[in-house]
Amino acid sequence: MAEPIHPILPGKKPDNVTVVKDAAALYRAAADEFSRCAQAAIAQQGRFAVALSGGTTPRGVYSLLARVHKALPWQKIFVFFGDERHVPPDDPESNYRMAAESLLTKVAIPAENVYRVPAESPADSAADQYERQIRTFFQLQGSAWPRFDLIFLGIGDDGHTASLFPGTDALKEMSRLVVANWVEKFRTYRITFTYPVLNHAAEVLFLVSGAGKGQILREILTPSRGQRYPAQAVQPEDGKLIWLVDQDAAPSL
Ligand code: 6PG
Repeated sequence: MAEPIHPILPGKKPDNVTVVKDAAALYRAAADEFSRCAQAAIAQQGRFAVALSGGTTPRGVYSLLARVHKALPWQKIFVFFGDERHVPPDDPESNYRMAAESLLTKVAIPAENVYRVPAESPADSAADQYERQIRTFFQLQGSAWPRFDLIFLGIGDDGHTASLFPGTDALKEMSRLVVANWVEKFRTYRITFTYPVLNHAAEVLFLVSGAGKGQILREILTPSRGQRYPAQAVQPEDGKLIWLVDQDAAPSL
């Protein structure tokens, strides 16, 4: 069982748990939600700031997005990453590389609109640099938090999200935007958004696909006493929390 953690905000049920037929339907729903959010944000504020998640599930979303929503005004779309492995951008493990291969090289997004984590640097320096880039982009003053229009997240079978893993120091970080988080199980650093950034987003969209996620998803969405996983502490203070799951991951929800 994951070490108990205390959600930043009183627990609340997700606004929406949407179960779709299969992975293809999930990719389509996520790509369409990206497009909807982008068009709304651009209409309201002239730009769309989105943070992508890594791993394997999102690749299908990004590939479809590049095909079906090629005509979005990509020059008004600004892409960040909710977390990154501590590897160079051309490493097979890199979340940036996965997004570049599946989406960023397939659409007309200006290079300067893509905010890659400089994960080839020493971990602490990468986190510091990334935090500065986010502060500059959002023109943050003092203790203000950035408000991303959309943040994609996934969950691991240990209940982690972004690179907020059970038992790691980043779970307790409430001041910084981005930290280098030592993950003992992988014997490596990860660079990750902290809970305050996730919980100040206008919308957080969890993407969960496949039978392998069934158990952890059920435990996360129907927590019994004391059971706490990092993903459960993602509770947007003034934003939407949506779980988009396929039938394989959600048979008993
Ligand atoms: C990462 C991700 C991570 C991911 C989950 C689920 O860097 O790996 O940001 O949090 O979302 O591990 O990954 P899958 O979608 O590959 O199962």
